[in-house]
Amino acid sequence: MRTLKIASIPGDGIGKEVVPAAEEVVQAAVKAFGGVEIEFTQFPWSCEYYLEHGKMMPDDGLETLKEFDAVFLGAVGNPELVADHISLWGLLINIRRNFEQVLNMRPAKTFKGLKSKLADPKDFDIMVVRENSEGEYSEIGGRIYQGEDQIAIQSAVFSRKATERAVRHAFKLAAERGKKVTSATKSNGIIHSMPFWDEIFEETALEYPDFKTESQHIDALAAFFVTAPERFDVIVASNLFGDILTDIGAAIMGSVGIAPAANINMNGKYPSMFEPVHGSAPDIVGKELANPIGQIWTAKMMLDHLGEEKIADRLLEVIEGVIADGIMTRDIGGTSTTTEVKDEIIRRLQA
Ligand code: NAI
Ligand code: MG
Repeated sequence: MRTLKIASIPGDGIGKEVVPAAEEVVQAAVKAFGGVEIEFTQFPWSCEYYLEHGKMMPDDGLETLKEFDAVFLGAVGNPELVADHISLWGLLINIRRNFEQVLNMRPAKTFKGLKSKLADPKDFDIMVVRENSEGEYSEIGGRIYQGEDQIAIQSAVFSRKATERAVRHAFKLAAERGKKVTSATKSNGIIHSMPFWDEIFEETALEYPDFKTESQHIDALAAFFVTAPERFDVIVASNLFGDILTDIGAAIMGSVGIAPAANINMNGKYPSMFEPVHGSAPDIVGKELANPIGQIWTAKMMLDHLGEEKIADRLLEVIEGVIADGIMTRDIGGTSTTTEVKDEIIRRLQA
């Protein structure tokens, strides 16, 4: 039997509630299908761990994680205990950077029965491929002079390698979806990096003559996300543009509590990491209000990535079913608790 070894890091806040719930759901799904076994190994790395050890993870933490097939993360951050820049950089960003997780993938879609923030949305099903290693989020720059002469400079970095990698992945995904790829650009305002981005997009598009392709300026694209999300299939975007678009994506779906994400390693040297879009939600910890669906849909993306598409598809189908039947947490308009949603998903997987 195939055994998948998953490193599980619940982290802080509601991470400690939704990660165990999602693990239980995954085990139920796996059991219903057979053919594969999943072993979760827990790591207590978190802000509480930091208070005890003075670091977010042990010095050999990355070495330890390297041996796993994937990392399954809840959320990191408890600003009352540890400053956010220390906790996030010490764990989450540490893993993303060192494990060369160069793409960030975030879907957004309509669910039957889920009230979108949009008044009357048509069905949409979007996958955003966000470049996750460079672009606008670079450490190149600095500050000079004092007082009214102060200057800050921040350079964006766009390499052919990373841009092509993101664009190619978008086309690969679109091949299994609606064969339409939209590129987020701003080459009318950003005159060096974005025309370069456009060139690489157009070059790659030539290899996929039967695909629909378009470049949209990010400002217009952001507006279309709200007014006509059904226009899109796969979107490829730079680090900053992808970050903004995917937050809009989570918003138009209905709640950040259902939005999943995957940080993908493309060279096979390290595991990929799967984590929901939401944070540790300190305001609702311990109240059974946390929506477990973001974490469970994240597990679905992990199973897809690991080649267990059948189980993954079934999971999404069951998620859609419980939402359609109104078994939902408060953030999406329901009255069910975290445990009730989780238990109902498990019950349906076993049925
Ligand atoms: P947040 O995502 O934790 O919460 C924002 C709002 O959404 C809150 O009102 C929260 O109650 C609600 N919410 C979030 N997830 C939910 C869920 N599953 N079910 C129901 N409601 C949910 O973002 P916030 O408050 O800005 O950050 C809190 C902490 O989390 C901070 O320390 C922050 O740095 C960290 N954070 C970590 C992330 C990560 O680990 N990837 C991402 C975002 C924030
Ligand atoms: Mg963001």
